[in-house]
Amino acid sequence: MSDGLEDVIAAHTVLSEVDGRAGRLIIRGWPVEQLAGTTRYEDAARLLFEGFFDDLPPDLAGPLGAARAEVFAEVAALDTGLLDRTPIEAMRALLARLGDGDDLAAALRLTAAPAVFTAAVVRAQAGEAPVAPDPDLGHASDILRMLRGRAATPAEVAALDTYLVTVSDHGLNASTFAARVVASTRAGLTSAVLAGISALKGPLHGGAPGPVIEMLDGIGRPENARAWLEAALDRGDRLMGFGHRVYRVRDPRADALKAAVRRLVGQGGAAQGRLAFAEAVEAAALAILKARKPDRSLDTNVEFYTALLLEALAFPPSAFTCVFAMGRVAGWIAHAREQLAGGRLIRPQSVYIGPQPREAA
Ligand code: ACO
Repeated sequence: MSDGLEDVIAAHTVLSEVDGRAGRLIIRGWPVEQLAGTTRYEDAARLLFEGFFDDLPPDLAGPLGAARAEVFAEVAALDTGLLDRTPIEAMRALLARLGDGDDLAAALRLTAAPAVFTAAVVRAQAGEAPVAPDPDLGHASDILRMLRGRAATPAEVAALDTYLVTVSDHGLNASTFAARVVASTRAGLTSAVLAGISALKGPLHGGAPGPVIEMLDGIGRPENARAWLEAALDRGDRLMGFGHRVYRVRDPRADALKAAVRRLVGQGGAAQGRLAFAEAVEAAALAILKARKPDRSLDTNVEFYTALLLEALAFPPSAFTCVFAMGRVAGWIAHAREQLAGGRLIRPQSVYIGPQPREAA
């Protein structure tokens, strides 16, 4: 038995390959570095959906815009009970209102839903009215407009597209596996996506970037980094944004996102200073992890520069995991369809180690 299933191959997929030793991620034949910064999210979603829906149009921008407008009706169900929850719990609850289905229309509604619902939840929690989608805009552009109530700059849209594309798929990570398990029971796409969101929200998976900001804010100044990080490790804490189950070298997505942050914040200014500070913290963390775990090869993962990028785009840290879901949702849907097309019910075995039944006296 492999604890954490790390040596178990549970699917064959045409969607993405994660090479942990080479630090390489390929999405449908494209190295992630080539997709990131050159591709709109709707085009990455189409790339992932290719072959899994008969009626896939050549451009998903229009249909995805229409799907955003359609699911916006569910925002009316946001009540005070839901607004007391974390953004990802509130977003998940709204998404659960969408009926199950397996066709392209269901897939587009589910691709649109995390974006539309997160923007509405974040605004409502700040006491602001939701902003309805503009179906004519690109997906990233509309997300930023729905969130902030004003048009985003081309540089901001490019940065968000880079992020969403970079995280759109990543092999059989925990949330994708959860989505495939549910899809294998033929429960439907909404159920599979809800399983994906539920697995993603944990701090060992997609819940790390919010705590990265808490770490940076706790450290405050570069000269505090070493002592702060050492104290965290002495307490038994993990350093958020470092380490990975598969990558034994640097996560290639970290550099794709670092480049995107650099393009967004440009030269000079407070945001540039924040990036330089984060780089100093990263360097200190890597040196300490190397000294403390010389056999383990712990490097920067995708979440570290995700935090910087989403902070620069003015997403609140409490909603960072929701933005991850906006990107990964296309991967979950494609994996669910792939599982349905060729896979059997996923049903592993367990070894019973509890008490044996007592003999009747
Ligand atoms: N900080 C400190 N120590 C760490 C870290 C870290 N970030 N990551 C791993 N370690 C240590 C563990 O404590 C463990 O030490 P031990 O053997 O002395 O107990 C050793 O390295 C191996 O840890 P595992 O838990 O076996 O590594 P695993 O592959 O299971 O964990 C994980 C991967 C969960 C990502 C881990 O590195 C971690 O917790 N990182 C911090 C959270 C984080 O950044 N999550 C986002 C991951 S990326 C993503 O999911 C999108």
